[in-house]
Amino acid sequence: MTSECVSSTNKADKILLQTENLTKSFLTEQGEVQVLRGVNFIVGARQRVAVVGESGSGKTTLMHILGTLDHPTSGSCYFDGVDLFSLSTVQLDRFRNQSLGFVFQFHQLLPEFSALENVMMPALIAGEGRCQAEKQARTLLEETGLEQRLLHKPGQLSGGEQQRVAIARALVLNPKLLIADEPTGNLDSKTSDGIYALLDRLHTQHELTMIVVTHNVELAQRMDKILCIRDGVVESVCR
Ligand SMILES: Nc1ncnc2c1ncn2[C@@H]1O[C@H](COP(=O)(O)OP(=O)(O)OP(=O)(O)O)[C@@H](O)[C@H]1O
Ligand SMILES: [Mg+2]
Repeated sequence: MTSECVSSTNKADKILLQTENLTKSFLTEQGEVQVLRGVNFIVGARQRVAVVGESGSGKTTLMHILGTLDHPTSGSCYFDGVDLFSLSTVQLDRFRNQSLGFVFQFHQLLPEFSALENVMMPALIAGEGRCQAEKQARTLLEETGLEQRLLHKPGQLSGGEQQRVAIARALVLNPKLLIADEPTGNLDSKTSDGIYALLDRLHTQHELTMIVVTHNVELAQRMDKILCIRDGVVESVCR
């Protein structure tokens, strides 16, 4: 059981996300792999939370569960007081669309579409008109400094630019929570600094709550709270 640090969540802040004893095991041909063994933590609205831990400790597994891309083996995850894994598939789809932006460890942009089209895509899928979707996508790509690269395809962008497109795409539906899994994983330190400065700006502009996986301790220390995953549980580090 994690010793959640009360002082790390300002009491005036509402709790946005709370996990209760999340576990996750995978069945493989070699037997059962237990990755998460009872993960407990809370995230306040508008908090910036860094998630750190050794490679293979379960960070991506946890992010996929928080993002409802995967189900836990047991345990609960509450978002705004709603028990996410008690929702129907349709309700979960709506939650993902309306409340959550996800930046994958490997950005997963669609290679045959331009930066602008990649960012527009979630809005179009959510049923927004093309004009409105394009307007929002353009604004976000401008905010991320990519106004000169709107029509470039992912293969024509640098790694840092691709990550910025992925961040813009995650924000196009104006989510409450942004989950980013190592958004600077393959980038040099200057480009990583730029991505974090961008996340900081977006956090302020969009009043975002952010959960960001990183191996970069210096960058993690700039966040409001650091969660360290070890032995399948989360240790909370007070700030
Ligand atoms: N589908 C799966 N089936 C079996 N084992 C899995 C599966 N997905 C992940 N694992 C195992 O779970 C462990 C945690 O994986 P995960 O990708 O969550 O690690 P991580 O902390 O994100 O690592 P990294 O820092 O390298 O990205 C690993 O040992 C991995 O082999
Ligand atoms: Mg990972």
